[in-house]
Amino acid sequence: MKDIRIAIIGHGFMGHEHETMLLKQPGFKLVGFSDVDPEQLEDVAEGLKRYASNEELIADPDVDVVLIAANNIYHHDLVCQAARAGKDIICEKPIAMSLEEIDDMVKVTEECGVKFTIHHQRRFDPDFRTMKNVYDSGTLGDVYSIKSSLYGHNGNMHDWHVHIDQGGGMLLDWGVHLIDQVLWMMEGHKVVSLYADIRNVINFEVDDYFKILMKFDNNVLAEIELGTYYLTDKNDEHWFERHWMISGNKGSAYEDGFWPQGKIVRTTSLLKNAGDKRTMTAAGPTRSFGPPAEGKLAVEELPMAGTTHDMFFENYRKAYWGEEEFLVKIPECRRVFALMDAVRESGRTGKSIAFEE
Ligand SMILES: NC(=O)c1ccc[n+]([C@@H]2O[C@H](COP(=O)([O-])OP(=O)(O)OC[C@H]3O[C@@H](n4cnc5c(N)ncnc54)[C@H](O)[C@@H]3O)[C@@H](O)[C@H]2O)c1
Repeated sequence: MKDIRIAIIGHGFMGHEHETMLLKQPGFKLVGFSDVDPEQLEDVAEGLKRYASNEELIADPDVDVVLIAANNIYHHDLVCQAARAGKDIICEKPIAMSLEEIDDMVKVTEECGVKFTIHHQRRFDPDFRTMKNVYDSGTLGDVYSIKSSLYGHNGNMHDWHVHIDQGGGMLLDWGVHLIDQVLWMMEGHKVVSLYADIRNVINFEVDDYFKILMKFDNNVLAEIELGTYYLTDKNDEHWFERHWMISGNKGSAYEDGFWPQGKIVRTTSLLKNAGDKRTMTAAGPTRSFGPPAEGKLAVEELPMAGTTHDMFFENYRKAYWGEEEFLVKIPECRRVFALMDAVRESGRTGKSIAFEE
């Protein structure tokens, strides 16, 4: 197979990340960058092109795939321009700014017959994939609760991320990742209803906190909570806290950190206390919150996924050459957006919203 020749629009934070990754990714040839701010191109790696404009990049016959890593509000127009020039496209998340934009992008990319996917590389986050392994294995029995949370401690949102007309806010930033992960984990199941709260805790224009409760048709209640301003004196090794918890009737799994640590805790014998029997604990016969008696719990290691973000491009390469499907499909990204609209409505009205009944 020949290398997939790829050029990137936007050499900011994510453009640099892609540059580092694609320069060493087998099966790809990074061709160059464009950016509206010429200063952003000054440190483009040697040997790569620095295009004078997005139009020049899109028109380059040496480019097969355009990767769009510019601010959110330009995704729609840039995707459509690249499609009309016959280029295949990877666009950064969030796919766009609205359902109308997404529908238009689908129409244009389909008409032009180009490949189109979104960079949801957090489907390969090892913490998420480990918990997906746990869920998929069925080892926890009937799962009733899933919690995914992310807390930042310094309150720092920056640049265009604090402006609503620039596509800022945490729902569009991290929200799309966290929702996409849970929807993918629950693949095949509808979100019957949801309740959400979204707040501007310290930012004037954009959301910096949200909590979303989603009830699935398999009776799982999933909770996503994100806050950028959770002050703490823990001062641990990270500037954030990432946690997962999944609970079922045969066990629970907890996990902390993006490079996760955690355990599965299971039991079958505690179930014998269910119903109207007395709960025996190490402290004697007591009610619900005593410690379990010795030997009642089996503690197991998490089935660590060991996934890495370059696997997104590995999947892209194989799908590009028809060896497998693109992992991230546009209707899935549209569903995340439809769900975010319902989240905003719930946040606005303070009421739960029927979603996919
Ligand atoms: N997948 C992820 O984990 C992840 C992480 C961070 C950001 N992102 C996404 O990447 C995109 C860029 O975010 P960022 O954090 O790199 O922002 P950034 O501000 O650091 O970089 C954006 C760059 O695009 C340039 N730019 C803006 N408008 C442009 C246009 N019309 N044409 C060409 N260049 C333009 C800017 O000058 C800047 O250099 C956003 O859509 C963001 O949501 C994704």
